[in-house]
Amino acid sequence: MAVDLKGRSFLKLLDFTPEEIHEFLSLAAQRKADKKAGIKHSALEGRNIALLFEKPSTRTRCAFTVACIDEGAHPEYLGKGDIQFGKKETVADTARVLGRMFDGIEFRGFDHKTVEGLAEHAGVPVWNGLTDDWHPTQFLADVLTMQEEFGDLEGQTLAFVGDGRNNVANSIMVGCAKLGMHCRIVSPEELYPEPDLVAAVREIASTTGGSLTVTSSIEEGVAGADAIYADVWASMGEEDLIADRIRTLGRYKITEKMMSMTGKPGTIFLHCLPAFHNLDTEVSRQYPDIQEVEDAVFEGPQSRVFDQAENRLHTIKAVMVATLGR
Ligand code: CP
Ligand code: NVA
Repeated sequence: MAVDLKGRSFLKLLDFTPEEIHEFLSLAAQRKADKKAGIKHSALEGRNIALLFEKPSTRTRCAFTVACIDEGAHPEYLGKGDIQFGKKETVADTARVLGRMFDGIEFRGFDHKTVEGLAEHAGVPVWNGLTDDWHPTQFLADVLTMQEEFGDLEGQTLAFVGDGRNNVANSIMVGCAKLGMHCRIVSPEELYPEPDLVAAVREIASTTGGSLTVTSSIEEGVAGADAIYADVWASMGEEDLIADRIRTLGRYKITEKMMSMTGKPGTIFLHCLPAFHNLDTEVSRQYPDIQEVEDAVFEGPQSRVFDQAENRLHTIKAVMVATLGR
């Protein structure tokens, strides 16, 4: 039976089957090819889409905006300071109002319960553009990039090196398990993922042929990896932890030497972005040691970070079209 995702919200990968995740990926690949060939679509014609942001964003905001316009929808950006949300109005009330006016709602923010509350009360599909716990649309772009590089995802090994308990790491663990991939979380023990999540992921992996390794050993973690993945050491909302993270994560910086430790010349480097890789940003000048990847790797021949960033557009478009499109 064909996969039908109409009317579904997209909050976390745990809610989706491997077939459904593949459906998003294959639609994203088609839409990407069509866009490059100049073939236009209008699956969201006449739809109004609310883009609700508590945290800042470049890629996610732009991807939702451009994807809406490409498919004929109207995107409306609602920053936290712009609406009553959270100050004078509850999540449930905001959801019911937005759901009467908009056909779909994207939310980026802190507490994952907020996006769940929106989905429960809005009556229209709600898409998670990142919470403290999960970043599911990011994972779709990550694996579309790996699929373009290597073909079949099953059996590929992705090593995430850094803060093993953040939203991106959580999503990668679950997503890889669903797709029969081998995931390595390489981080200091104090930043290991939640044991309950590790157990749930291993349970999923046991049904798909995937696996999850959690290790503080860089040697063990990156050996044989097809992709090495980095994220910032302190996520949005954790700015007061920067000094601490420099201490705990300093030795996990992605270097050319670490890339060669995979033993595979074809290993690619991935990063969700934004990335600290030089001293050209305000924060890096303030904290010169906060650098999760060497500039030589970020700018080097193994880096696919801008393909990955572009793929945010095609995968987010696929999520909206699959769940709301005509
Ligand atoms: N990767 C990502 O989510 O980027 P933004 O924070 O710029 O949206
Ligand atoms: N873990 C990062 C991801 C940014 C896209 C954060 O939450 O800030």
